[in-house]
Amino acid sequence: MRAACCKATVLSHSAPAADIRLLRVLWPDPGHAPHAGQFFTLRSWGVGEGPFLSRPISVHKWEPETLTVSFLYQIVGEGTAKLAALREGDALQLTGPMGNGFDVPDIAARYEKIALVGGGIGTAPLYQLARELAAAGRTPDVFFGFRDEPYCMEQYRGLAGLVKVSTDSGRVGFHGFVTQLYDPADYDVVLICGPTPMMRNAARLCAEKGTPCLVSLEKKMACGIGACLGCTIETASGAKSVCKDGPVFAGTEVFGWQT
Ligand SMILES: Cc1cc2nc3c(=O)[nH]c(=O)nc-3n(C[C@H](O)[C@H](O)[C@H](O)COP(=O)(O)OP(=O)(O)OC[C@H]3O[C@@H](n4cnc5c(N)ncnc54)[C@H](O)[C@@H]3O)c2cc1C
Ligand code: FES
Repeated sequence: MRAACCKATVLSHSAPAADIRLLRVLWPDPGHAPHAGQFFTLRSWGVGEGPFLSRPISVHKWEPETLTVSFLYQIVGEGTAKLAALREGDALQLTGPMGNGFDVPDIAARYEKIALVGGGIGTAPLYQLARELAAAGRTPDVFFGFRDEPYCMEQYRGLAGLVKVSTDSGRVGFHGFVTQLYDPADYDVVLICGPTPMMRNAARLCAEKGTPCLVSLEKKMACGIGACLGCTIETASGAKSVCKDGPVFAGTEVFGWQT
């Protein structure tokens, strides 16, 4: 399905942590409903203003009853700082949904014991994934790692089985890496989103235990529809665009570890 480009209205905008924002908007196009792992590009600034490109942000939560889509994002630069200035009632431009996300019907049909593994703001798309898995009759275990301050964890209660947290600082939860919280051998599949080194390591550990994994990649994007080749990566099956073929890929395809 082709992405739609719509003016969306801000319903609420809150700060779950210091540089983290939760933006809820009204998406006025029920014909273009997103699913887990897909993303929209967001723009709250004029065509002649910087930054030049709209910014890709994953779907954190989709509520079809109210046509509400939520984004959980980290303020890291000019674009996200401009998004952070949005107030209730403001308008922004949304294009999407884009990308090949998690195929939840297939995952739920093939696997019973499912682990969700997230690092930092890479946890953002995993909430919609947990919701869709729960609706499909699966109860995933959740393992999230943060630098110092976890955020948006309470919402997994009732959706997930185990919920475990690690922090680099040791301030909350286990003091260490998120990959030390679970054994891939205990799961039929591991679904991962976070910084590239963390995903590479998590995929390697899965391969060592013979457990398949899917990773949601991040690359800088321009067109978002597979036309500009700006987000091309080499995979085991040739060159692929992260925006159109992904962002979700099999770990073995992008990191080369064999299960
Ligand atoms: C498919 C996809 C989904 C994403 N989902 C989310 C999300 O749910 N929440 C969220 O907070 N962020 C998400 N991102 C990352 C987000 O798009 C960038 O943080 C944002 O574009 C930065 O824009 P900026 O103008 O604020 O910062 P810039 O000034 O453009 O960059 C600031 C810093 O962030 C780095 N950076 C910028 N874009 C990326 C990127 N795509 N990947 C890695 N590093 C980058 C830059 O190299 C620089 O160091 C996603 C990216 C992709 C490709
Ligand atoms: S951003 Fe243009 S091909 Fe992916």
